[in-house]
Amino acid sequence: MWNLRCLPCLVLLFSIDVAGQRFQTKWLTLSGDAPLVIARGGVSGLFPDSSYEAYTMAMETSSPNVISWCDVQLTKDGVGICFPDLKLDNASNIDVHYKNNKSEYLVNRVLIQGWFSVDYNFNDLAPVTLRQGVYIRTEKFDGTKYRILTVQDVANQVKAPGLWLNIQHDNFFTQHNLSMRSYIISLSRNVLINYISSPEVTFLTNIVTRFNPRVTKLVFRFLGHDDVEPSINQTYGSLLNNLTFIKTFASGILVPKSYIWPVDNSHYLQPYTSLVLDAHREGLEIFASQFANDVHFPYNFSYDPTSEYLSFIDNGVFSVDGVLSDFPVTASATIDCFAHLNKNDKPREKFLIITSEGASGDYPGCTDMAYTKAVSDGADVLDCPVQMTKDGIPFCLGSINLVDKTTILQSPFSNITNTDPVLNIITGIFTFNLNWDEIKSLKPAISSPWSGFGLYRNPKAINDGNFVSLVDFLIYAKSATTLSGVMIRIEKADYLANQGFGVIAAVVEALRNTGYNNQTSKKVMIQSKDSSILKEFKKRSYELVYMIDRNIRDIESATISEIKSFASSVILTKNSVFRSEDEFLVGKTDVVKKLQSSNVSVYVQRFNNEFVSQAWDFLSDSSVEINNYIVGAGIDGVITDFPRTAATYRRNRCLGYKHRSLYFSPVETGGLLQFMSRQSLPPAEPPSPILTESDVVEPPLPPVAKITPASNADASPTAQSSVVAGVLTCCLTILLADLS
Ligand SMILES: *[C@@H]1O[C@H](CO)[C@@H](O)[C@H](O)[C@H]1NC(C)=O
Ligand SMILES: *[C@@H]1O[C@H](CO)[C@@H](O)[C@H](O)[C@H]1NC(C)=O
Ligand SMILES: *[C@@H]1O[C@H](CO)[C@@H](O)[C@H](O)[C@H]1NC(C)=O
Ligand SMILES: *[C@@H]1O[C@H](CO)[C@@H](O)[C@H](O)[C@H]1NC(C)=O
Ligand SMILES: *[C@@H]1O[C@H](CO)[C@@H](O)[C@H](O)[C@H]1NC(C)=O
Ligand SMILES: *[C@@H]1O[C@H](CO)[C@@H](O)[C@H](O)[C@H]1NC(C)=O
Ligand SMILES: *[C@@H]1O[C@H](CO)[C@@H](O)[C@H](O)[C@H]1NC(C)=O
Ligand SMILES: *[C@@H]1O[C@H](CO)[C@@H](O)[C@H](O)[C@H]1NC(C)=O
Ligand SMILES: *[C@@H]1O[C@H](CO)[C@@H](O)[C@H](O)[C@H]1NC(C)=O
Repeated sequence: MWNLRCLPCLVLLFSIDVAGQRFQTKWLTLSGDAPLVIARGGVSGLFPDSSYEAYTMAMETSSPNVISWCDVQLTKDGVGICFPDLKLDNASNIDVHYKNNKSEYLVNRVLIQGWFSVDYNFNDLAPVTLRQGVYIRTEKFDGTKYRILTVQDVANQVKAPGLWLNIQHDNFFTQHNLSMRSYIISLSRNVLINYISSPEVTFLTNIVTRFNPRVTKLVFRFLGHDDVEPSINQTYGSLLNNLTFIKTFASGILVPKSYIWPVDNSHYLQPYTSLVLDAHREGLEIFASQFANDVHFPYNFSYDPTSEYLSFIDNGVFSVDGVLSDFPVTASATIDCFAHLNKNDKPREKFLIITSEGASGDYPGCTDMAYTKAVSDGADVLDCPVQMTKDGIPFCLGSINLVDKTTILQSPFSNITNTDPVLNIITGIFTFNLNWDEIKSLKPAISSPWSGFGLYRNPKAINDGNFVSLVDFLIYAKSATTLSGVMIRIEKADYLANQGFGVIAAVVEALRNTGYNNQTSKKVMIQSKDSSILKEFKKRSYELVYMIDRNIRDIESATISEIKSFASSVILTKNSVFRSEDEFLVGKTDVVKKLQSSNVSVYVQRFNNEFVSQAWDFLSDSSVEINNYIVGAGIDGVITDFPRTAATYRRNRCLGYKHRSLYFSPVETGGLLQFMSRQSLPPAEPPSPILTESDVVEPPLPPVAKITPASNADASPTAQSSVVAGVLTCCLTILLADLS
């Protein structure tokens, strides 16, 4: 975890870097300086919004000049508190403490029910604690520790380098006889306020003469285009055409990010508007809001928050002057480490980027489109999981079951589904049930592993691309000059042998026919979780990669020796490197260290951009996660659905700094647990096993069965016979059970 006691050293690190090697460039902001990072309620993407921990973590993990944003609300006795919403029940447990005190007020002419700060004196709020208001985020920190803070608390205790106060509802407090204006003016006598924003024109025009714009900048906040500004009764959309008027009382504007990059109804990005250029021409700074790593993502960014920030700050045409973010770490890293990189920059860390079914985060896996995208995204190694067709053609597909990866159930072949107890598949149409020509006629289907969370992958490309045979895959890979190799995955060779398919022989032949045997420019990696398959390749000069697909907490040295007898590298799960429980890191294993010290390379799978695939400790930022495995665990390669994210990470400037920025230091495992109350701690899960020698030894493969070639008219004799065999085994088991 980010070490809360390390604040002084953080400041020191940054001052060294600023004076020394830090990258300088002319930004297309109004001032020419780097854009600001404004932490909305701290790291509100992780801790409860506006809590002490959220603000402190923002300072630890962000740019040295990060600005703390506080939404100011007033209590009945006129105390200013930082709270993200007018309704206190939005992000605190006030509804529990004052169960029967709900009220109803007009807010901008709309009747709203809830618990409002104007009904409570500050002391009434003492027992109330903050909680996470956005339900896709972890609620594990909703404990007893998080109190509502006053604005003074945030200024004095957090000691942020900058303070931004947002006054969302001056009108409402005025109706309740509370003067936000007097409060802010009196606060400014002992607290340095860098920015004051409001969506109400009159509030800003009423205070503008009281603030020196060189000390405190006033910013007009735009809400939705059709929302009506309450004090002058015009829509925000119409005010957008009147920036000259806004410049009379504000030095900047704050807009939802869609004002700059609009998004269509299907969540794709449209061309940018001229707003940033217009504002700059008017002499107004422009800040963009609603940045978060976990919500509001147009598909164009492939769930990579860094690439979204880059489109706002480094697009060659303009840069916003600041971003308001729930995850300031990502904004800071983007500005410091990722902006203005050159696509031809050399990697700054040596590790392999291996695809998982090509760029399967963007296109249906193992299609020509997924492979082409992966190459242009900067992958080093393209993978092909080999399957066999009925007519014996090896081709690339992520599953032996066509139902998983194609739209076969909507095709004329949908009537040949069957069940296979050996493969443990209930609804299956197997690749070897269809000829290659038939498989090529199927539509590929994109996989969206986190669709259950509403996180879909590139819906416009949901059935795009064509499947490729292993031979075509190899020819393509050979022609891609930036690739260093291919990884061919073989599984179920014993099962296929019983069906009459020699998958190993097919792979060897494809490699030979495409000239991979007598060339050295492309590395060939053969991957399997079955040691007996790898042993078949022992006499060839391929890198043999053993996949350990379950989580392990340790590995015996005898096991490593055994692995070395058939493989030179292994693939581990993420959890076998950093153990996590309930998606919180609880420890780091020695498995990587032990394998590497025996000269076994370690690759880790599978890296994804969707935040739900990552431990909370990584702040929903795929680059932070990769950084931890590379810098924090020293692995030799990543296996990823999103090679572009890994390739961008590998070129980032901060990897070259002598002093790593804290937002790019590895996370301390277990660090987040200390912030949880006892009842929130993740349940101790049974420990993962230690990998022993007998776990990796497999019986030798059976010979390939001699089966008379199936005629095309017959849908699937092999599959049907295996069903019969399965039924027999199953009945036999029942019989035996009955007998005993
Ligand atoms: C709190 O407000 C935010 C922003 O309007 C909203 O996204 C969230 O759902 C609200 N949460 C609750 C618990 O009302
Ligand atoms: C809550 O409501 C009760 C009963 O209506 C009242 O006595 C009490 O003062 C209220 N508390 C606050 C903090 O408003
Ligand atoms: C505000 O003050 C006015 C005049 O003093 C009074 O009539 C009104 O009831 C007060 N409103 C509230 C919400 O306290
Ligand atoms: C606000 O403007 C709209 C149309 O511009 C008008 O119909 C409405 O009466 C106005 N409301 C107020 C409170 O002035
Ligand atoms: C801009 O707004 C001001 C104040 O509402 C108004 O007086 C002025 O006419 C507006 N100008 C334009 C061009 O709309
Ligand atoms: C976003 O992606 C869609 C679909 O691929 C594309 O049509 C659109 O042009 C992209 N938007 C931008 C701004 O590149
Ligand atoms: C499946 O349907 C096709 C016609 O769409 C038919 O020719 C074929 O015999 C059917 N196969 C089975 C196994 O029912
Ligand atoms: C490499 O192997 C291929 C296929 O076996 C063969 O056609 C080719 O001549 C070989 N090239 C060299 C340089 O040996
Ligand atoms: C690992 O490789 C290095 C260099 O190739 C060699 O010196 C060392 O002895 C090897 N270590 C083991 C444990 O095999």
